Amino acid sequence: MKPLLSLLTVALFSTHLSAANLDIGEEINEVCAGCHGEYAEGGKEGEYPRLAGLSADYIERELRLFKSKERLNHPMVPYTKERELPEEDLLDVSAYIATIELYSKLPPIDEENFNAYERLLLSKKLLNVRRIDGDYEAGKELYNKECSSCHGRDGTGKLKKKAPLLAGQYSNYLLKQIRAYRTGKRTHDNEETSESIFKEYSEEQIQNLLAYLSILDDD
Ligand code: HEC
Ligand code: HEC
Repeated sequence: MKPLLSLLTVALFSTHLSAANLDIGEEINEVCAGCHGEYAEGGKEGEYPRLAGLSADYIERELRLFKSKERLNHPMVPYTKERELPEEDLLDVSAYIATIELYSKLPPIDEENFNAYERLLLSKKLLNVRRIDGDYEAGKELYNKECSSCHGRDGTGKLKKKAPLLAGQYSNYLLKQIRAYRTGKRTHDNEETSESIFKEYSEEQIQNLLAYLSILDDD
């Protein structure tokens, strides 16, 4: 029974993969790269969020929300019109972006096999968000109590909960999203959760949460 089951899982998994065309996805990403960067690393201190590290599933969902304007994203309006981003392209680009891996620190230099070009390429895929001030301990306590069940203890997100990574995402961007949740411009998970989770937090608690998240990607 077991081998058959795992065979079936492999078969299902590969159909899902082959359903998306990564080469086409890579081409479409050239448009996205204008703002989000070639390696989907984001930029301008979080004016453009990182996309690398997000699941294909999450990227797809947000793109659909942009298309329907349920989540307002003015800069992306021209890129998410049905003609510009039909469902097939949406799937391909999401699948492609989900394959990009960034590093929060560079591996130690291997003196014997040092390759300057490889090192340069690697350094382009380096992203470690800047530490921001706050009470890291208080932020950690709050995070582990209120957020980690969905976003993961290490902040890398949980597929099962459809919750994206928070650690390694730019603090400015996260703050903007929390503000959008607080004012009801964006819906967090479901309306009830966003009301109860974000509305009662003080600015200081939010700063502590963001401070803790800004160091969570350091190791
Ligand atoms: C003109 C600049 C621009 C271009 C081009 C662009 N984006 Fe964006 N994108 C943004 C901005 C700005 C945000 C943040 C919106 C916000 O603050 O809520 C964003 C947010 C996103 C998000 C949400 C991330 C998250 O963590 O929720 C996804 C997914 C995304 N973009 C995917 C894409 C893809 C895929 C493309 C190419 C088809 C693309 N973007 C092209 C500017 C751009
Ligand atoms: C019940 C599960 C759940 C809990 C608990 C939860 N989240 Fe989320 N969070 C989600 C989901 C799902 C999303 C993705 C889409 C959405 O609904 O906005 C999300 C999205 C976010 C985003 C936007 C990320 C992006 O890339 O745009 C931020 C910021 C965020 N959550 C912060 C928090 C913080 C801080 C806490 C704890 C105070 C928390 N969340 C607790 C489920 C959860």
